[in-house]
Amino acid sequence: MPDNRVIVTDESTGQSLELPVIKGTEGEPTLQIKALPSTLGYFTYDPGFTATASCTSKITFIDGGKGILRYRGYPIEQLAEHSNFLEVAYLLLEGELPTAAEFEAFDREITYHTMIHEKLRTFISGFHYDAHPMAMMAGVVGSLSAFYHDKMDMDNPKHRRLAAIRMIAKMPTIAAACYRHHMGWPAVYPDNSLSYTENFLNMMFSVPSEKYEVSQVAAKAFDLLFILHADHEQNASTSTVRLVGSTGANPYASVAAGISALWGPAHGGANEAVLTMLAEIGDVSRVGEFIDRAKDKNDPFRLMGFGHRVYKNYDPRATIIRQAAHEVLQEIGSDDPLLSLAMELERIALEDEYFISKKLYPNVDFYSGIIYKALGIPTSMFTVMFAIARTVGWVSQWLEQEDVGTPIGRPRQVYAGAAERDYKQIGSR
Ligand code: SDX
Repeated sequence: MPDNRVIVTDESTGQSLELPVIKGTEGEPTLQIKALPSTLGYFTYDPGFTATASCTSKITFIDGGKGILRYRGYPIEQLAEHSNFLEVAYLLLEGELPTAAEFEAFDREITYHTMIHEKLRTFISGFHYDAHPMAMMAGVVGSLSAFYHDKMDMDNPKHRRLAAIRMIAKMPTIAAACYRHHMGWPAVYPDNSLSYTENFLNMMFSVPSEKYEVSQVAAKAFDLLFILHADHEQNASTSTVRLVGSTGANPYASVAAGISALWGPAHGGANEAVLTMLAEIGDVSRVGEFIDRAKDKNDPFRLMGFGHRVYKNYDPRATIIRQAAHEVLQEIGSDDPLLSLAMELERIALEDEYFISKKLYPNVDFYSGIIYKALGIPTSMFTVMFAIARTVGWVSQWLEQEDVGTPIGRPRQVYAGAAERDYKQIGSR
């Protein structure tokens, strides 16, 4: 079939322009609209970029209609079943699954960079004890360029990759240090004999007064959750990282901006908001009341953990996490009523015409909080968990953009303000 041609015609002038069709390996074809302003004199208008591709990328593919998610071509279901988080991190960064020797070298490289500059602990100690950990994470990560300025020549690919490795390696250490500051507990340093998630758990929960055994159930569950949260193409926080990176800002500043974007309850903050919502619903008997509120256009309340900008089918990650939530609660012998409430809320919502017609399904955040809560992560740390995992996607996408060289991002606008007018002295206003 000949390639489809798309021609835009301005009826008022009779002028036409053929828009080049760009097709990726998979996914909807896109129109290159760059020539529109200079030929037909039009810009395009797409608030929230719901129909606009900001870049080409080889990292992650999502098909929202079919509920498909693949990292570098590998289906998320297969990676969740067979891989581990550090191997997925290598895949997202390098584009291929590692050989045994490559994985061993990568594991050692990450492990080697888990320590943080001691002065960062002084920085963290300056926060009020009840500061939200996402506020602390954004501040501390943004300050990293002040501590690791030794290799910051962003034109040097080796320096770019080292910054990415440092981010992946240090996020768990920073997150745990922020949590321990909040708890008033002494510092715990990385233990290089532990795996990535075991190390994180040990830094989070071990105390000097007694021996701490890392729960293998928790380590395995967090490894799975980190895999599922690692990347998700051009979501709000990743797009933020790319936009900040496009100005030439250093990767630490770019990731700090991504952390701030992820914090929003419409994005990564939803996992914390789901638990808050479930606690507010409290009992299955009140589910109907909240579903009605979610449907009421005059009520700003939305069903947290439902809906997605791209998935108009089940979020494949939610399916995997739902199963994991059951397994974890069974293994630790918890019958958390919030899980039963969540299951009932999901059942009722998925039978409701409003949610069916608007294709609102549970997303990645709906069940993850239940696992985090069951494994002892405080609600305020849920989005920090998301940020630890998504750092791999952020730095992979940042590296991809840096490697190809991208012009500074600069969207346009439709100006709807006052037309030109002359200044009036204060006495005549
Ligand atoms: C993440 O982009 C990513 O990939 C993000 C993410 C990632 O991995 O990076 O997947 C992670 O952020 C998941 C989403 C977590 N957020 C939440 O769970 C918060 C609750 N969800 C909503 O705020 C909402 O669904 C969004 C923000 C996720 C999507 O918003 P959109 O793009 O406006 O949704 P839509 O256009 O598909 O909405 C269609 C309709 C709208 O009503 P109408 O204007 O057509 O009348 O459905 C309504 C929306 O108002 N709607 C909801 C709803 N979500 C959408 N109504 C009630 N409850 C909801 N949760």
